Amino acid sequence: MKLLVTGGLGFIGSNFIRLILKKYPDYKVVNLDIQNYAGNPNNLKDVEDNPQYGFIKGDICDEKLVEDIFSTEKPDALVHFAAASHVDRSILGPQEFVRTNVLGTQVLLDAARHHKIGRFVHIGTDEEYGSIQQGSFRETDPLNPSSPYSSSKAAASLLALSYFNTFHLPVIVTRSSNNFGCNQYPEKVIPLFITNLIEGKKVPLYGDGFNVRDWLYVLDNCKAIDEVLHKGKEGEIYNVGGDNEFSNIELTKLLLKFLEKDASYIEYVKDRPGHDRRYSLDCSKIKEKLNWQPKFEFNYGIYLTADWYRKNEWWWKPLKSGEYLEYYKKQY
Ligand code: TYD
Repeated sequence: MKLLVTGGLGFIGSNFIRLILKKYPDYKVVNLDIQNYAGNPNNLKDVEDNPQYGFIKGDICDEKLVEDIFSTEKPDALVHFAAASHVDRSILGPQEFVRTNVLGTQVLLDAARHHKIGRFVHIGTDEEYGSIQQGSFRETDPLNPSSPYSSSKAAASLLALSYFNTFHLPVIVTRSSNNFGCNQYPEKVIPLFITNLIEGKKVPLYGDGFNVRDWLYVLDNCKAIDEVLHKGKEGEIYNVGGDNEFSNIELTKLLLKFLEKDASYIEYVKDRPGHDRRYSLDCSKIKEKLNWQPKFEFNYGIYLTADWYRKNEWWWKPLKSGEYLEYYKKQY
């Protein structure tokens, strides 16, 4: 099988490509990535010379490039990770989110349709459902996103599903909860807090710290996407969660413990506008239909992640300078 992966230099995409290359030695993977601040070649340095792997630098919104890739590479399936994904950035500048997440998805869908792709796996997020006080969202629940980021992702997943209904394109959508693990850009809460603590800096906790997220170790998500790619039903949505709901203050205390720091390292800062209180997914569908379960116990996943950031300062130190600092200065 030849897989076209978009956004494969990003956090989840790079972990997914590494898993696929290892698990399926006869597969080929072509990675289309724009290589922006989060699309980091260092994420796949270890597979650069693997003959199963090919890289194309480019923008998913570039119709001609995408068309050329489909014509020359003739992929059997596509897994679409490429997206602008940070909520705070989407509040500062929504346009890029609509462009990449909505327009880029449409360009890929059209090319996939013209070239009769065998399978189109679209990677979505639990944030598309919006916030929920009690209980958990099922795949059949309506979407109620609140940030420009989650709204653009909701638009993209609905567009993808419309291509199944209208054009019989074999689309499958996954919606996962917050991922964490190695190679995550240090703007998301877990790597930001871990690297701040390693550097002896405080961690900026938004609002009262009682917002709740469900945490999914990235390899569990990659395994779920693998199952969906090979065994999922076309036209369907699969929720993918980690069964690890924690408030941000609980998460922060755990990170402080792992990094051997005390509560004086917590700095309560102004809340994010439109900050969703709680995300929660009901994942019984993927568990029952595809026999998938999250395997990584939360504390163990955090241990692995903190350990990776401790040992890989070469990877994240350069990312915490320049453009990154400018961005944070603007926020506070
Ligand atoms: P984030 O990693 O940005 O993911 P998302 O907003 O997509 O869930 O944030 C996770 C949670 O952590 C969210 O409730 C916001 C909070 N948070 C902070 O308290 N401080 C921070 O500096 C960041 C980046 C996030």
